[in-house]
Amino acid sequence: MSLLTIRDLRVTYGTGTAAVRGVDLTVAAGRKLGVAGESGCGKSTLALALLRLLPPTARLTGEILLDGEDVLTMKWGRLRAVRWAGASIVFQGAMHSLNAVHRIGDQIAEPLLVHRRATPNAARERVGTLLEQVGLPAARASAYPHELSGGQRQRVMIAMALACEPRLIVADEPTTALDVMIQAQVLRLLERLVTEQDISLVMISHDLAVLADTCDRLAVMYAGRVVEEGPARDVYDAARHPYGRALSAAFPRIGDPASRLAPRGLPGDPPDPAALPPGCTFHPRCPVALPTCASQDPPLAPAAPGHRAACVLTTGSPA
Ligand SMILES: Nc1ncnc2c1ncn2[C@@H]1O[C@H](COP(=O)(O)OP(=O)(O)OP(=O)(O)O)[C@@H](O)[C@H]1O
Ligand code: SF4
Ligand SMILES: [Mg+2]
Repeated sequence: MSLLTIRDLRVTYGTGTAAVRGVDLTVAAGRKLGVAGESGCGKSTLALALLRLLPPTARLTGEILLDGEDVLTMKWGRLRAVRWAGASIVFQGAMHSLNAVHRIGDQIAEPLLVHRRATPNAARERVGTLLEQVGLPAARASAYPHELSGGQRQRVMIAMALACEPRLIVADEPTTALDVMIQAQVLRLLERLVTEQDISLVMISHDLAVLADTCDRLAVMYAGRVVEEGPARDVYDAARHPYGRALSAAFPRIGDPASRLAPRGLPGDPPDPAALPPGCTFHPRCPVALPTCASQDPPLAPAAPGHRAACVLTTGSPA
C-alpha cells in the first residue's frame, strides 16, 4: 500500500497564482520519489503542501493521504504530531534556519522532548546517536551553528528530520547551497539513512542526474503539473516527454551550477503561472510541437509500462 497518495492536488496562493494545478502521485512505503523541474514550476509549493506549511491565504484542494489519513483535513493537534513523528521536511536553504543562539544538540533534542516526551537524558543519548548517524561526533552537540561548515549544518538538519523516526522525509533541494562534492556526500548520506531505516523520501531537485542516482521513481513538473513520471532511470535515460528529454540532456553532471536555472538547449523560460499559454503549456518551447498543441492540453497518461507522460506524441490525442 502507498504511504503517500496525492490526488488532484491544487494550490493557489492568495495572490491568485495557481502554483500546483492537479498533481497525482504516490509513494510506496520505503520508496524514494524524485521531483524535478525548472525554477518556479511548483516543486516547493508541492513540498510545503504535503505538511500544510503554506501561508494561510493559500487555497488547497484535493487529497494528501499519509498512511490513509488526509493531511488537508487533519485537526491542528493531529497535524502538529504528524509533522514530526509521521513526516518531516528538510527545507530549501534550511541550513540557514538553525537558531544561531542555541547549541545544535538542544535544537535536535527539541522535537524529542516535545513530541516524544523523552526525558532529558534519553534525548541527549538519542542526539548523540543521531549525530553519529549523520557522520558527526556526538561531542559536536555542544557546538553552535556558526562553528560548523555548511555541509555539517546540513547534516544537522538531516539529524533533526530523522529524530522522531518519521515514515516520510520531504527534502526540498537539501544541498543547493553546498559545493558540488559536499552536495554529493550529503545526498548519498540521506539516501543511505532513509534506505537503512525504511523511510520513504520525496526529494526535490533541479538536477535529474542526482535524482536518477538516488530515487526509485522520478516526476518531472512543468508549470504546476507533473508532465512525466516513471522509474527513475527510465525517465532519466529514456524520457518520453520533450521537456523531460530536455531536462535530462541539460544536467550531465551532478549539481552543475551553470545549468541550474536554464537547461542547455531549451529556449525561453517556463511560463508565468498568471499567464499560462493555452493548450500544452510547454508548446511555446517545445522543439517537436504540432499545430494542435497550441489548443490541446494532453493529460498525464501511460506512455510505457509504469511510465506516464503528458504529450500527444507519446500518448495520442486528448479525448
Ligand atoms: N508565498 C507565495 N505567494 C505567492 N506566490 C508564490 C509564493 N511562493 C511561491 N509562489 C509562486 O508560485 C510558483 C511556484 O513557486 P515554487 O517556489 O513552488 O517553485 P519551485 O519549483 O520550488 O522553484 P525553485 O526551483 O526556484 O525553488 C512561482 O510562480 C512562485 O512565484
Ligand atoms: S503535447 Fe505537443 S507541445 Fe506538448 S510536449 Fe507534446 S509535442 Fe510538445
Ligand atoms: Mg523551490
